[in-house]
Amino acid sequence: MSIHTSRAIQIDQHGGPEQLKLVQITVGEPGPGDVRIRHHAVGLNFIDVYHRTGLYPMPMPARLGMEAAGVIEAVGEGVTHLQVGDRAAYASPPPGSYCELRVMPAKCVCKLPDAISFETGAAMMLKGLTAQYLLKRTLPMGGLHAGDFVLFHAAAGGVGLIACQWARALGLRLIGTAGSAQKCALALANGAEFAINYAEEDFLARVKEITAGQGVKVVYDSVGKDTWDKSLDCLAPLGLMASFGNASGPVPPFAPGILGPKGSLYVTRQTLFTHMSTRESTQAMADELFAVVSSGQVQIHIAQRYRLEDVQQAHRDLEARKTTGCTVLTL
Ligand SMILES: NC(=O)c1ccc[n+]([C@@H]2O[C@H](COP(=O)([O-])OP(=O)(O)OC[C@H]3O[C@@H](n4cnc5c(N)ncnc54)[C@H](OP(=O)(O)O)[C@@H]3O)[C@@H](O)[C@H]2O)c1
Repeated sequence: MSIHTSRAIQIDQHGGPEQLKLVQITVGEPGPGDVRIRHHAVGLNFIDVYHRTGLYPMPMPARLGMEAAGVIEAVGEGVTHLQVGDRAAYASPPPGSYCELRVMPAKCVCKLPDAISFETGAAMMLKGLTAQYLLKRTLPMGGLHAGDFVLFHAAAGGVGLIACQWARALGLRLIGTAGSAQKCALALANGAEFAINYAEEDFLARVKEITAGQGVKVVYDSVGKDTWDKSLDCLAPLGLMASFGNASGPVPPFAPGILGPKGSLYVTRQTLFTHMSTRESTQAMADELFAVVSSGQVQIHIAQRYRLEDVQQAHRDLEARKTTGCTVLTL
């Protein structure tokens, strides 16, 4: 068995960005169902912050990162959808994509179309597949149709800018929120029909005004604690509250009884990897993402690049709301 080495980012305990340490790891041969992939670029995601801080606890020591793109170097027994030399990209557990080389399960690794660069692949898989399952699979009663209003928080972020463009392609009237005038302009330039600076404006009042008091069919909420209460009041009767993140902190416990008087609302807490539980569902979702990106309906905006060894700064900037669009770590 040949042994390879790779630089990787590891934490020995949960905590701040200072816990992110550059280490040298050894990488072996893929077992059954695994591949060895040599990364060309790595994606940065807010879930990496939750893994680092311990909001989503992990056994120690732990590697971070859930997204990357590169070339398949070795294929384990039973893997049929990938071959040595294939260009590939993924959003996948277990965490550990902040590295040059790794062995990992092949199930969520997809062949990357030649027209899509490694950097774009690394930037878009986790965020783009999230936008896909939200807008196509996380739907209110009766579904979403062209002309329907949806509210999407953090619309100028990684998931947000992709969702703005994809919603426009679907004919949805997306109302985006973002934390500055510049971010609002970015959301509007990417397909949001309205953008609300929730650092300055009352987003509930604005949503009521925009929808002539009717409310929206769905709220896609990854901000969590800070936006939860008002988001429920933005919904039309029988509307869907789709919670999918906690950038401002987790949503506190609530009593289901409050949903009745607000209009018999539906509430769900979604996670990407439930939707990617099989190879078939993963590939079907990825094919849709590849199609909208290849056609130009969705552009992947990489607004920040950091070297792998500068990952502490990347985490600081992401948490400080200094980033827009997607961020990649270069190797
Ligand atoms: N459940 C899933 O399947 C799933 C999958 C992917 C992502 N997510 C979630 O979706 C969200 C977006 O992920 P992303 O990687 O694309 O990140 P991102 O949107 O690029 O960055 C997070 C954004 O959240 C906003 N935010 C609001 N309050 C914040 C606070 N107190 N601290 C920090 N940020 C705050 C900021 O935008 P403003 O300044 O404009 O407010 C910030 O830029 C995250 O919450 C992530 O966990 C969930």
